[in-house]
Amino acid sequence: MAETKKSLLTEISTPVLDSNDRVTIVGGGQVGMACAFTILTQGISSDVVLIDVDEKKMQGELLDLQHGSLFLRNPRIDAGKDYAKSANSKICIITAGARQREGESRLNLVQRNTDIFKTIIPQLVKYSPDTIFLVVSNPCDVLTYVTWKISGFPKNRVIGSGTNLDSSRFRFLLSQKLGVAPSSCHGYIIGEHGDSSVAVWSGVNVAGVCLRELNPEAGTAKDEEKWKEIHKQVIDGAYEVIKLKGYTSWAVGLSVGSIVRSILRNSSELHAISVNVKGIHGIKEEVFLSLPAILGKNGLTKIVKQKLEEVELQKLRECAKMINEVQSGLVI
Ligand SMILES: NC(=O)c1ccc[n+]([C@@H]2O[C@H](COP(=O)([O-])OP(=O)(O)OC[C@H]3O[C@@H](n4cnc5c(N)ncnc54)[C@H](O)[C@@H]3O)[C@@H](O)[C@H]2O)c1
Repeated sequence: MAETKKSLLTEISTPVLDSNDRVTIVGGGQVGMACAFTILTQGISSDVVLIDVDEKKMQGELLDLQHGSLFLRNPRIDAGKDYAKSANSKICIITAGARQREGESRLNLVQRNTDIFKTIIPQLVKYSPDTIFLVVSNPCDVLTYVTWKISGFPKNRVIGSGTNLDSSRFRFLLSQKLGVAPSSCHGYIIGEHGDSSVAVWSGVNVAGVCLRELNPEAGTAKDEEKWKEIHKQVIDGAYEVIKLKGYTSWAVGLSVGSIVRSILRNSSELHAISVNVKGIHGIKEEVFLSLPAILGKNGLTKIVKQKLEEVELQKLRECAKMINEVQSGLVI
């Protein structure tokens, strides 16, 4: 075989093996695989490593993906349980851990998944000391804080996928009600990726025309058009999908892919992601919550100071207190 290769190819130079855009995904379950599929099929990275305790399943996923190499761009894919495979990753995405059971809140998962993170994060730091952490496992905001604490990394290199997905659900539902594509319906869900998220109704607009200019009560209890229902649907969205198919995967995979693309391409795009919010919007606690933020090669570069209404600020601050209480009960 080696002889055949020799006579087939004329060597001109040694090929470069380091792709420089390695993305490691820890947790090759439904969410991790949806992230990997998005990243590979959208050409976001051509170097993906999957790490999971279930080595046999990873071998199966690896072969299944590799068999599609012809239809991708001949990516380098590796998988297993050995963290050495993740060495020199630009981004480490964490989707490992227990998922929500039907009807279970995200915050309920917290100590179970913190214990799992205590085994994962030091390994990733060891092999990729300059990586950017992107936490997806739930409860996303608390686990982003846990990752920040365990890793000792600066704030710019630890983010959570946060309400990037909730904002996508929001814009999809706005688009359905308005008959305008989600990409042209602007609006943010901020705060907790979970039951106490905040819909920024004051900023919802299409082409700069604010919904509140047309309907000053949009998003409030008094509103006859019942826009507020949309936020309820966003909050219930994950529960509904889990009830119907057992887990959520495609939308979160696409949402994570968009974050990874912004970092690797250094694109300065905005995402509602979970960031350290101490000192912003009058929040005193050291917690991670989602705000619109700009991403680049360094990870988090800037946070947008939205003009929030008093009621929105209050909800955000209450949320910070609640998350802080959960964190103070954790054994990290
Ligand atoms: N942030 C979001 O927007 C969002 C959306 C959906 C799901 N999630 C969360 O993502 C997580 C994963 O969900 P899922 O549906 O993929 O679950 P899953 O059960 O399908 O997959 C979890 C995977 O983690 C692996 N795992 C467990 N312990 C591990 C360890 N110590 N090291 C390495 N791998 C380990 C398991 O073997 C499994 O393959 C859950 O916490 C879920 O709540 C987050």
